Amino acid sequence: MCGIVGYIGKQRAVPILLDGLKSLEYRGYDSAGLAVFEGQRVVAEKAVGKVKALEEKVGSLGDSEARVGIAHTRWATHGGVTEANAHPHSDCGSKIWVVHNGIIENYKELKEKLMGSGHFFKSETDTEVIPHLIESFLKDKSADSLEEAVRQTLKLLKGTYGLVVLSADEPDLLVAARNFSPLLMGVGNDEYLIASDASAVLKHTKNVIYLDDGEMAVVTRNEHHIYDLNRNSIDKKTHTLDWDIESARKDGYPHFMLKEIMAEPEAIGNSTRGRLLPDDGNVVLGGLKDVERILRDAERVIISACGSAYLAGRVGEYMLEEYAGIPTEVDIASEFRYRKPVFRENDVLLVISQSGETADTLASLREAKEKNVPTLGIVNVVGSTISRYTDAGVYQHIGPEIGVAATKSFVSQASILALLTVFLGRKREMSITMGKRIVSELQKIPELMKGILQNKEVIKNLAVKYKDYEHFFYLGRKYNLPVAIEGALKIKEIAYVHAEGYGAGELKHGPIALIDKNFPTFAIAPQDSVYEKMVSNIEEIKARGGPVIAIGTEGDKSLEKVADDVIYIPKTLEMLTPLLTVVPLHLFAYYVGVEKGYDVDRPRNLAKSVTVE
Ligand code: G6P
Repeated sequence: MCGIVGYIGKQRAVPILLDGLKSLEYRGYDSAGLAVFEGQRVVAEKAVGKVKALEEKVGSLGDSEARVGIAHTRWATHGGVTEANAHPHSDCGSKIWVVHNGIIENYKELKEKLMGSGHFFKSETDTEVIPHLIESFLKDKSADSLEEAVRQTLKLLKGTYGLVVLSADEPDLLVAARNFSPLLMGVGNDEYLIASDASAVLKHTKNVIYLDDGEMAVVTRNEHHIYDLNRNSIDKKTHTLDWDIESARKDGYPHFMLKEIMAEPEAIGNSTRGRLLPDDGNVVLGGLKDVERILRDAERVIISACGSAYLAGRVGEYMLEEYAGIPTEVDIASEFRYRKPVFRENDVLLVISQSGETADTLASLREAKEKNVPTLGIVNVVGSTISRYTDAGVYQHIGPEIGVAATKSFVSQASILALLTVFLGRKREMSITMGKRIVSELQKIPELMKGILQNKEVIKNLAVKYKDYEHFFYLGRKYNLPVAIEGALKIKEIAYVHAEGYGAGELKHGPIALIDKNFPTFAIAPQDSVYEKMVSNIEEIKARGGPVIAIGTEGDKSLEKVADDVIYIPKTLEMLTPLLTVVPLHLFAYYVGVEKGYDVDRPRNLAKSVTVE
């Protein structure tokens, strides 16, 4: 995701900023930029591509005497990957410059108003409204300082931000603020660094102050003040980091995979934020605006994807058929592309891909396009090939996923499929009451997930207990059949354990022959419409001596009588249970992999983005 670095102090700013950006490269980005106060003005440079490209462009500015500046690596969300859309962004007079992480949800209305009063915009970003708002408060004299103008601006913003502002009129000052997007200050000797991530400050200082939501920092080279938005001063503790750079990138987690599993609630928040209309029992999906008519008339959705994205698609199949009443088929992209699929009028192809570059998924997309089938995408990487080729789509907005095995991207994709279900359902038979129910339950999911993650030690202990088994079954029905397959996939790729994900109803048609005391089963059995059937399957396994770990609904004590171990998840709507049941399965695979001493972030033989067949 985007990265921020700000510097104010006695050293040359440009090399420090570039170096800071390099330490944020691991987060993934598509363009970079910086702005420094040089002479009597602010000079900015931006480049598409790597920080190296920015460094080359910066050229002799690298030797400048500038001692204050801001810099950014951008992971596109609003607007394509272009120099104009790269940060920092400025006001009309190119005096006020801003770097920003997060999404300003109400930027469209703010932009319209600003344009109406004569402001000229140079980018397609949501961020650019910020410098223009600051400019307008200073111009109309409702603020007499940069600090005050930023404060008034923040009060108008809806959404998430970590930001740093630099102004040519107050060059010995940086103003920073945070709302649901991380920001910290490195406190050095007569110098400060402001960054979205500790890895950008660690070379210079280990003393950091973490900003909290709703706080702003006013920083000169030798002092800082932190306030809330009502000017109340806040005393903050300085923390001393004992991290090295690698652990800072992982936010102190031992692996990216664990960091990303712990970010699953945030991923759902980011994928659904600004898209839910709880009072209308509906959702807004801006990326589908241009194809609304096609979607209203669609008679079948065909989903094509690979790996975990495919499994998220299978969760979507149940959702779309049960709640939106629209026939849905899901296929592995590598099959779909070669099996000469028969398209009908009013079919829509939906491809799902975190990277947006998976070769087989892309080939499915091409196949459909050749046959003039409308195409949609659920994609994380903005500007990726798939995101550009689809006619319309929904971005995941979850930042980069670095661990090779998909984790947070799976829950994000499934949550977007729930949004799509409401979107398509409400254009069909879905009642407002049902729409409201799904939306309100979806809103609660991140908090419910956090509860599961807080108890991660329970899963760790189970991983220790079961780590030496060589085979596992993962069983589920209906919504939790794809989750069972995802759980099995995860333990295969991370812990190199043979596992099979199966529909519990198929057990008696063969696989049950394998069950004995050395073949444990994960049984996903929340209290839903297939609960009794799952309990019967658990009993069948127990009768044959197979150990069972059940995933059940909180309060369901009866499962403890049939299973050896039970992991509880909170109650939610049946169609949303996959978002909760998959969390312990991701954690279990992670912990078994770690217990066995494997490199869980880079499992053998696998690639994050499979761009060849
Ligand atoms: C690779 C990754 C999987 C991922 C799959 C699809 O195999 O290791 O974790 O699910 O590709 O990737 P995509 O980027 O298309 O979602």
